[in-house]
Amino acid sequence: MITTTMPPMTGAEIVDLCKKHTLYEWSAQSKIAPIPVARAKGIYFWTPEGKRFIDFNSQLMSVNIGHGDERVIAAISEQLGQFAYANPFLAHEPRARLGAKLAEITPGDIDTFFFTNGGAEATENAIKIARFFTGRHKIMARYRSYHGATAGSISLTGDPRRWAAEPGIPGVVHVLDPYHGIERGWESAESSLLMLEEVIQLEGPHTIAAFILEPVVGTNGILIPPDGYLHGVRKLCDKHGILMIADEVMAGFGRTGEWFAVDHWRVVPDLICMAKGLTSSYIPLGAVGMRQHIAAHFQENVFYGGLTYNSHPMGCTAALATIRVYEEDHLIENAKKMGVVMKQLGAELQAKHPSVGAVRSIGLFGIVELIRSRKTLEPMAPFNGTSEEMQALGKFFREQGLYTLVRWNSFYTNPPLCINEQQLREAFGIIDKALEITDRAVVD
Ligand SMILES: Cc1ncc(COP(=O)(O)O)c(C=O)c1O
Repeated sequence: MITTTMPPMTGAEIVDLCKKHTLYEWSAQSKIAPIPVARAKGIYFWTPEGKRFIDFNSQLMSVNIGHGDERVIAAISEQLGQFAYANPFLAHEPRARLGAKLAEITPGDIDTFFFTNGGAEATENAIKIARFFTGRHKIMARYRSYHGATAGSISLTGDPRRWAAEPGIPGVVHVLDPYHGIERGWESAESSLLMLEEVIQLEGPHTIAAFILEPVVGTNGILIPPDGYLHGVRKLCDKHGILMIADEVMAGFGRTGEWFAVDHWRVVPDLICMAKGLTSSYIPLGAVGMRQHIAAHFQENVFYGGLTYNSHPMGCTAALATIRVYEEDHLIENAKKMGVVMKQLGAELQAKHPSVGAVRSIGLFGIVELIRSRKTLEPMAPFNGTSEEMQALGKFFREQGLYTLVRWNSFYTNPPLCINEQQLREAFGIIDKALEITDRAVVD
């Protein structure tokens, strides 16, 4: 509730007023029907009228610790009582402690952080750091990727959200990754790396500052790289003096069952971008972390970057409290454990439902890709499009109180990391029923 002096609004009133005076992202405004939310706890949220949803996407793959954690709320309230804001040229305890804590949990010798308001500003500043450090200007990125919606980050983004922002910033080179869609499937790490090196050669290694990639791709399909791929990328970057930037905005903070996705393969990137799970979205905060030799560069060279809300005390406090929750409640371990259960439930769906073409997951980061034909593997909706069946599936999820992202021919399984087995089974029970809709469209 906004204030105690105003009568609460109904769900319909909230939706009408939101739509009348505010712009929704990535949408034609007349086509959307947002769900009004009044409260949230654990893996659930409720509308003002009391309809309950299982939050099977952790909102935007971000409320990793779950909703309404009293410890985080208390820490935020306490900090508010001390001081809400201090400008970025000052020093304060939340900033001091968070930098030190992140140095502990991030891979290798990453130990210096620049704090931002969110993920896009993290990737945006990673570009700057890479360019300043190397003196080179090109940035390589992959097509099946999303890195944010600001000018630089949307230029890095490979998926169709980039198209409307083109021509974008100069110097971005896109490359393919080992996945080629459900019909063509995967290529090996070796051949994908050969293609990558060819691009590096053709572009001129001395012109390339960095290669940015999501170690496990998020909204472009929960793409888990074949073993050897990330090691190969690391080696190519080292060979050519190119910085490796891991965009862990979505995959970081336990989502995959490790603190960071790169930890599965023991690869240390030069720069690491984070947001979302960093504060579990209780307060906005992002960061870009860098290895010691890169941080050393800025001892004598100016870092030309800044934000009014850089190192915001409220964001830093929320991050510290959130990280404590991951540790106290063993949420990374739970993600790993529940990830095993989710894999099993996914395999059962695939065995039972002809419309399930592929199920991928790592920890509690998952996706189901739907098809029309087991022979041709034609997707249930075209690339960058939708279909009647996918819309009906989304409608069914909503009616049944399962909140998740339905995109193109896929839907996502990304619950908060505090989920238990019974709750996971309940959600998959709804999915099991929903898939009868798409099964009816399968032709062979
Ligand atoms: C991998 C990745 N990078 C960057 C971003 C951008 O983060 P934000 O929306 O906080 O700007 C996102 C957002 O979904 C993301 O998934």
